[in-house]
Formats: sequence, structure tokens, C-alpha cells
Amino acid sequence: MKNLNVLITAGPTREYLDPVRYISNDSSGKMGFSLAAAAKKLGAEVTLVTGPVSLPTPKGVKRLDVTSAAEMKREVMKRSAGADIIVMAAAVADFRPQKFSRQKIKKQGRRARQVLNLAQNADILAELGRKKRPDQTLIGFAVETEDLEDRALKKLKEKKCDWIVANRHTVIGKDRGHAILLSKKGRRVVLPELPKDELAFIIFSHILD
Ligand code: CTP
Repeated sequence: MKNLNVLITAGPTREYLDPVRYISNDSSGKMGFSLAAAAKKLGAEVTLVTGPVSLPTPKGVKRLDVTSAAEMKREVMKRSAGADIIVMAAAVADFRPQKFSRQKIKKQGRRARQVLNLAQNADILAELGRKKRPDQTLIGFAVETEDLEDRALKKLKEKKCDWIVANRHTVIGKDRGHAILLSKKGRRVVLPELPKDELAFIIFSHILD
């Protein structure tokens, strides 16, 4: 991966409702951080845009911390044109509270259904797919509770990815993972259960093949 610029996202995003409450996705950031460490060890220039996680920055990786999906989108889109490989491993929140209240929302005088109205966030991966140059490699993730491969294939096509890493939700937060890699050219690789650090190298070996 020498001389390649690799842009990786990791972790969840947080969508704040007021200064003390947010909605988010379950994500430790481990897979994205493992991919960033692997890409760096393979000689790439790596930028990691991460939501709130408690993980150390892999050595030599340029890290940018973000909170919301909108911030992640801004930082990713600023850097996407210069990237040879983009990996969207982040668990981006699909929805955000419609309004942010600067003051803590008090329960008194409110009905539960009045507290949370949601608006939809932009899909960063789909936007990257629309803007993708032929020389760029775009890798998405799909986390599913059922119909894993069908749904992952649908995302691969709809978001114009070159590869999608399909995962069951049971890998979230674990040190080990397993995955099925699906490519737009019809390749299908089933990876065994392994530490995420090792999986990261294997994922890149197939993608660069
Ligand atoms: N993704 C993104 N922006 C979003 C939502 C998701 O870039 N607003 C990216 C994720 O980083 C991941 C891929 O899209 O690479 C798939 O995310 P996933 O949450 O599995 O699927 P969604 O497209 O959000 O669809 P659904 O929630 O309906 O399964």
C-alpha cells in the first residue's frame, strides 16, 4: 500500500438532543482502528475520522475526532478526493433529533412522544459512491441481524461500493470478528472468526488483490 492515501471512518456518531442526551449506534470502533493500523503497517498514509470511542490512535495514523454524522460527513468529504481507498467502517446514525435544545429538556410538563422527533442524516457512503472516481476503491460495511448477504449485496449496489464487508451484529464491541466480503465484480470471500487486528490485514489483502 506504499504511496496510497487511505481514508477510514470508525466508531459511532452521536446525535445530541440536548447538552446531556444523545442517540447513537452501538460501536466500539475496533474494526475501523484495526483497519487503520493495518493500512499504516502496509505502508499507506492513513487518515482516521472517528466518532467517540475509547481507543488509542494507531501509531503513525492521522486521527480526526468528530461527534455527529454531519461533522463526520464534512471531514470525510473534505478529504475524499485525495484518497485512493476509502473505508466506511463507522456506524453512522441514520437519524438525528430534529431540534437541539441548548437547555436540558425537563420532563415536567412534557408528554413522552413530544420529546423526540427525528430527521434523517445524509448517507456518507452513498455520497462517496456518487462522487467516486474509477481509480478509487470504496469499501462499505453492512451490519445486519438477518438476511445478511442479500442486504449487504443491496447496499453494495445502491451505494456504488467496490466491496462490502458484511457482518452480523454479534461482532459489535468484540475483539474478534468474522465477515463475508462481497465485491461488485461478484467475488465472495468468507472470512473465519479471527481477532479484528488479523481480519484487517486479510480484508486489505483481498481488496488489493
Ligand atoms: N453509512 C453512511 N452514512 C449513513 C449510514 C450509513 O455512510 N448515514 C455507511 C456505513 O458507514 C456503512 C454502510 O453505510 O459503511 C452501511 O451502514 P448500515 O448502517 O449497515 O446501513 P444503512 O445504509 O444505514 O441501512 P439500514 O440502517 O437500513 O440497514
